[in-house]
Amino acid sequence: MRRVKLGLVGAGVMGARHIKAIDTIDALELVCIADPAVGAQEICQACRIPQYPHAESMIQAEELDAVIIATPTEHHYSGVMVALAHGLTVLVEKPIAATVAQGEEISRFARAQNCHVLIGHQRRYYPCTQKAREIVQGRQLGKLMAVSGQWTLRKDISYYSAKWRQERSAGPVLTNLIHEIDLLRFICGDILAVSAEITHHDQNFEKEDAAAIIIKFANNAVGSFVLSDRTPSPWTWEMALGENKKFPRASQNALRFMGTKGALEFPNLKLWSHPNKDGDWRDIIQSKEIETPFIDAYKAQCEHLCAVVLGKQLPIIDAENGTHSLDATLAVFEAATKGKRITLNS
Ligand SMILES: NC(=O)c1ccc[n+]([C@@H]2O[C@H](COP(=O)([O-])OP(=O)(O)OC[C@H]3O[C@@H](n4cnc5c(N)ncnc54)[C@H](O)[C@@H]3O)[C@@H](O)[C@H]2O)c1
Repeated sequence: MRRVKLGLVGAGVMGARHIKAIDTIDALELVCIADPAVGAQEICQACRIPQYPHAESMIQAEELDAVIIATPTEHHYSGVMVALAHGLTVLVEKPIAATVAQGEEISRFARAQNCHVLIGHQRRYYPCTQKAREIVQGRQLGKLMAVSGQWTLRKDISYYSAKWRQERSAGPVLTNLIHEIDLLRFICGDILAVSAEITHHDQNFEKEDAAAIIIKFANNAVGSFVLSDRTPSPWTWEMALGENKKFPRASQNALRFMGTKGALEFPNLKLWSHPNKDGDWRDIIQSKEIETPFIDAYKAQCEHLCAVVLGKQLPIIDAENGTHSLDATLAVFEAATKGKRITLNS
């Protein structure tokens, strides 16, 4: 069996999560790490692999098929461009880059180099997400009319003790909403326009405390989404699914998709419809729960990376697609600060 040779750039929290996934896949071999930090040195010693100070020196010295980039977001662009210049396949953590212009440049360069770039929106790999997409896009709900979503919880105070966590670039829109926007795009299709209101009136940091967003999809469906990191409540993807053991599972659904024939709660799939075809508000409405397996999405993502390197699959989310998710997310700030509806390029 040919093993795909992989380098990791950035061995912090997410880098360690990727290593845990890589360790479970026989077809993937972690060959080296680029990260100057002491923590990375300890990981390299434990794994008996070389440590490099940066992506460029690692890629020049090693024979690699692919790299995973898990550095802070402002370093994504330089790491991805170096890897593409050497003809490698890249999995870069979300968001693809700090700006839409950088994302577009990555897309162009990947095409020119005939290389694949995958973006680390791991929620796309969950069977519940794939099933929701199949239900919505397969028109089991009829014509999709509306979507309602929420991501509201209270982060711990120590989370904000580092100054950078108080800045807009680390706020819930760019850190958390981008996952929700990407999910909505994956399940419902492209977003045409975004309007938004933002408030800071709890912590008064540069980062937002809450946001309310209105979305128009390319298929004419409309959506609304509420987000806050200051409000104790169970309506988030993480708490609904128990994705991360650090955040206790509450099993409350956070998204609802409404079509002309029925509705779907997500991520614990519950399908609502009238038992009689053409039923309406005078008829009872019933729900049916749809079971899907819970998986390690980071493992699924690494398996997919292998398949892309070996030419067996195309990226489930490529650079262009990841840039559209970033664009729609950044549009929230533009819409809120300008007080106007922002039409997107996608
Ligand atoms: N997919 C998800 O759900 C998810 C969750 C959290 C974070 N993220 C993303 O993952 C990325 C990393 O976040 P994190 O929480 O792991 O950060 P982190 O600070 O824990 O780790 C970053 C690591 O990168 C290293 N580093 C910094 N600059 C570097 C450079 N130029 N070259 C090589 N190494 C460098 C640091 O030394 C550190 O070890 C961010 O882009 C973030 O948005 C994704």
